Amino acid sequence: MKSLVEAAKAVREHAHAPYSGFRVGAALRTPSGIYTGCNVENAAYPEGSCAETGAIAAMCAAGEREIEAVAVYAEGSQPIAPCGGCRQRLAEFAEPDTVVLLAGPDGVVTTTLGALLPGAFSGGHLA
Ligand code: THU
Repeated sequence: MKSLVEAAKAVREHAHAPYSGFRVGAALRTPSGIYTGCNVENAAYPEGSCAETGAIAAMCAAGEREIEAVAVYAEGSQPIAPCGGCRQRLAEFAEPDTVVLLAGPDGVVTTTLGALLPGAFSGGHLA
């Protein structure tokens, strides 16, 4: 798990966050390897994207669809809390018991996707 946090911390260095100044890195462990992403902001604020979203896009572009574990790294006053939209995006490719590591300079908080997004809407609801 340490390498997953390190991957999230490393990719954070590439974040484009000139507006918020809040840089985030995300790393996804999958059966085929680790995929990473950083937040990419835009002068048209709503067009920016989160680190988790970038990591999911990289994973899918590589042909992978299964998230085994997640790490998100940011440097704030408290452990990073993935936004609601990214919790839903992660749920598309992960399970309620998938471990999510919320990491920062003060350490790592370990939780699960189910704890972050109880009662998630899923493809099963569309049937
Ligand atoms: N952000 C992420 O990349 N991931 C999260 O889990 C929460 C927020 C980004 C979006 C925006 O670029 C900046 O952090 C401030 O909200």
